[in-house]
Amino acid sequence: MNTVRVTASRSYDVRIGSGLLETIGCCAAGMKDVKRVCIVSDTNVWPLYGSTVKESLRNAGLQTLEFVFPAGEAQKSASTYLELLNCLAENRLSRSDLIVALGGGVVGDISGFAAATYLRGIRFIQIPTTLLAAVDSSVGGKTAIDLPAGKNLVGAFYQPSLVLCDTDCLDSLPSDIFRDGCAEVIKYGVLYDPALFAHLAKNGLEFDREAVISRCVELKRDVVAEDEFDTGARMKLNLGHTVGHGVEAQSHFQISHGKAVAIGMAIVSRAGRALGICTEETTDSILEILQKFGLPCSCDYSAESLYTAALSDKKRSGGTVNLIIPERIGFCRIAPTPVEEIQAFIEAGL
Ligand code: GLY
Repeated sequence: MNTVRVTASRSYDVRIGSGLLETIGCCAAGMKDVKRVCIVSDTNVWPLYGSTVKESLRNAGLQTLEFVFPAGEAQKSASTYLELLNCLAENRLSRSDLIVALGGGVVGDISGFAAATYLRGIRFIQIPTTLLAAVDSSVGGKTAIDLPAGKNLVGAFYQPSLVLCDTDCLDSLPSDIFRDGCAEVIKYGVLYDPALFAHLAKNGLEFDREAVISRCVELKRDVVAEDEFDTGARMKLNLGHTVGHGVEAQSHFQISHGKAVAIGMAIVSRAGRALGICTEETTDSILEILQKFGLPCSCDYSAESLYTAALSDKKRSGGTVNLIIPERIGFCRIAPTPVEEIQAFIEAGL
């Protein structure tokens, strides 16, 4: 097992390894004054791991209740959030009690936002069960729900008290969902770490899970320590995301987040090459690694439609969009780009 300590407005450990689900009871019981725990999960994850988590908590002397909602991004809504708050209130969870988020990004985001706001904030533990959640959403305290107008439009920065990443959970992931997480893992290599990138390029899907997840969490820890509230360095984590959100939106979310990010990374790399920012060699190695992981590098949408979707991205500031463009493996540039130049940029990368 590896432990990565995240230092932010609340400091906490991220534990990564095999067999960690069974340790949740001891971890929760060791937190001051916790008596009751609400386990939040979805209908995909609860049947797989719900009883292990519940039993561990009960064996540690804690009372449990569960809030299980239908799986899928459509549930990251105000109505599910309110149902969860009502469930906490009806069961009289107090401010010293605890939420445990057992699942992927949707479960983590909605649980975290409920934890941030119920009784003005109660503690929560993240147990990510997807690779995507393990390396990204469970660490760093971004919590949110979606509105009809867009994703993640309501939320809070609210750090968990602990993250338990049990690598055994990844064994139950459909390979498609696992590959989605790989896009984010590759992103860390492109952004910060040539050695990580080389390990992934060499091993493909057979990479060392514990070591790679730990490295991604360390990299994210460093970003969050520098810029918890996403005003500078943290925006680099959006590599591939501005165009990727456009791809997701154009496909009516039929193209998953990870695959859309892969397409977004490919487009910005090719556009960066066309502008002389990204070397030929770097662009080729990004496209090759995406292909090695079975991730897409292109889409059929026009630059105009992706541009329109990119403009609705909330990360736009004033008349510019901060595009993240690889220069070489391990270093990307933040390029504030005037809105009127975005369509031509995308066109250059299609
Ligand atoms: N998912 C990007 C971030 O945590 O900032």
